[in-house]
Amino acid sequence: MNRISVAIDGPSGAGKSTIARAAARTLGFLYVDTGALYRAIGLAVCRKGYDGRDREEVLSVLPEIKVELHYLMDIQRVCLNGEDVSELIRTPQISQFASRVSAIPEVREFLLDIQRDMAARNSVVMDGRDIGTVILPYAEVKIFLTASAEKRAERRCAELRERGEPAELSAVLASMAQRDAQDATRAVAPLRKARDAVLVDTSNLTLEQSIQAVLRIIRQAQQVR
Ligand code: DC
Repeated sequence: MNRISVAIDGPSGAGKSTIARAAARTLGFLYVDTGALYRAIGLAVCRKGYDGRDREEVLSVLPEIKVELHYLMDIQRVCLNGEDVSELIRTPQISQFASRVSAIPEVREFLLDIQRDMAARNSVVMDGRDIGTVILPYAEVKIFLTASAEKRAERRCAELRERGEPAELSAVLASMAQRDAQDATRAVAPLRKARDAVLVDTSNLTLEQSIQAVLRIIRQAQQVR
């Protein structure tokens, strides 16, 4: 069977993970959340007591860690040296660490094979920042998912509140803007739309409409092949 890769990139809070997960489930593809890999490294660096900004400090951590993805009934789990850290990496603090360490070329190199291996072995819907541009430049389908900063911050706030975490819109908007700027201006693999990616703006779409829009693009691409 031919394996198909769907690359979904975009800024934080655009709905990538929810939409990509739903699309993958409908298609019977594996959903790969690559942000979890950077978050796991961010967590390892944080546990060392480093702030993630110093390249040498971050590089000193890499030889000590093994980051793996496992699937339990289609649900991705990320393990750091054998410990399942899937929940621990979902804090605003680790979001910032992930963004900082992801700007270091050696960190990106460290995570390259695990991502490409996943796509070589499975049909995937993979989300991240550089999937269509760097990780899977030959992906059959590329989508750049975005939404206005306000909409993205509102959604992230709702998500945090649902998890019982305090969230204030202006603070979420500010930290999101800072992370986006960091991700889009870094020298290596910055967040940007691949030339051949289809742009989907979810600002005025419901979640269900966004999922359908993405599925339509994937199915159209499959018909063309
Ligand atoms: O998708 P996320 O919010 O879980 O990602 C956390 C950080 O990891 C994000 O701010 C930038 C980085 N990242 C990246 O540089 N490249 C990816 N493919 C995925 C995430």
